[in-house]
Amino acid sequence: MADLSTTYLGLALRNPLIVSSCGLANSLENIKKMEDAGAAAIVLKSIFEEQIVFEADKFIDSSDNSLSAMKKGLNDILQNRSYDYMEAMDYMTNFAKEHTLKEYLDFIKQAKETVKIPLIASINCVSAYDWSFFAKRIQQAGADALELNIFILPSDINKTASDYDEIYRKIIADVKKFVSIPVSLKLSYYSSNLVNSFIALSNSGIAGMVLFNKPYNPDINIDKIEISAGKIFSSSDDYFRTLRWTAILSGRVGCDLAASTGVHNYETAVKLLLAGSNAIQLASVLYEKGIDEIKTILDGLNKWMDAHNFKTIEEFRGKLSQINIENPAVLERVQFMKSYAKIV
Ligand SMILES: Cc1cc2nc3c(=O)[nH]c(=O)nc-3n(C[C@H](O)[C@H](O)[C@H](O)COP(=O)(O)O)c2cc1C
Repeated sequence: MADLSTTYLGLALRNPLIVSSCGLANSLENIKKMEDAGAAAIVLKSIFEEQIVFEADKFIDSSDNSLSAMKKGLNDILQNRSYDYMEAMDYMTNFAKEHTLKEYLDFIKQAKETVKIPLIASINCVSAYDWSFFAKRIQQAGADALELNIFILPSDINKTASDYDEIYRKIIADVKKFVSIPVSLKLSYYSSNLVNSFIALSNSGIAGMVLFNKPYNPDINIDKIEISAGKIFSSSDDYFRTLRWTAILSGRVGCDLAASTGVHNYETAVKLLLAGSNAIQLASVLYEKGIDEIKTILDGLNKWMDAHNFKTIEEFRGKLSQINIENPAVLERVQFMKSYAKIV
């Protein structure tokens, strides 16, 4: 049996598999099942910054002048959004109505009493608008780390790439003022200068980056001729983008990397570790096959390591990252030319 232990965000993990933020982690029963199935850590379902602003008065002194600014902030946030607004509203109506922030904090406390593995709280945010004080509550409730799911679609024609980078930097700086637990960023691949932006972000005080978030995607219903919701779950082929950028960024960033999107089996987990991920996050596969699939993936990883005589994860992690391979161009262009040249 190989030693699967590793570290992520400075946390000691018994193996690299982490349950990604999703509704499955909303019950203590499931959280226990995840731990029993072998999950090394769990990212809790996200709360939205809008909800924090919305309920801010319950958490801060009402004589505080910043309260009215926060309330105004909420209106600004809600009115100035299109895409993000839809996602936030969906969340606010379907989840947040029944789950207050106090319940979120209580849930963290109860979950900490239920399992021994690290629990990573999650906040979905798009701005640094006066909500970051709440990160401290999350730390006080016992979360071992905080993942910020920052989904910014760079679709505003009046903003430059550096305007967008500045939003990320501001969010990180604001949150870091309130917490000492590790903070990670869950990012989308929409960036005009991904490598440089991500390397700069990785050196701005965060402990890790999750590549990548899988946002709600719009689709089009051609019968009704209207915009519809795209598929929520990933498929087992959806990992290629994560693989490429993990391999390109590994060894160049100043923080850990977690791979997310499309990990449905041990083979993909192995590939992403070879590309240089420190941890692997899973969501869709657990909805489709059940929480026990974590065991199957761990078993496969173990057997693969034995077959290749790897005793520890570090022996092979990043072996195929761009800085470690002989021909770095295969991750960019040459591979494409070679394989397509044979077909067309
Ligand atoms: C039903 C569902 C709910 C999700 N909720 C959240 C969430 O609250 N916060 C978040 O950061 N990601 C959320 N995600 C995204 C997942 O954490 C993950 O990044 C994405 O599904 C890609 O991973 P996968 O291919 O393993 O599913 C959700 C995904 C699903 C399927």
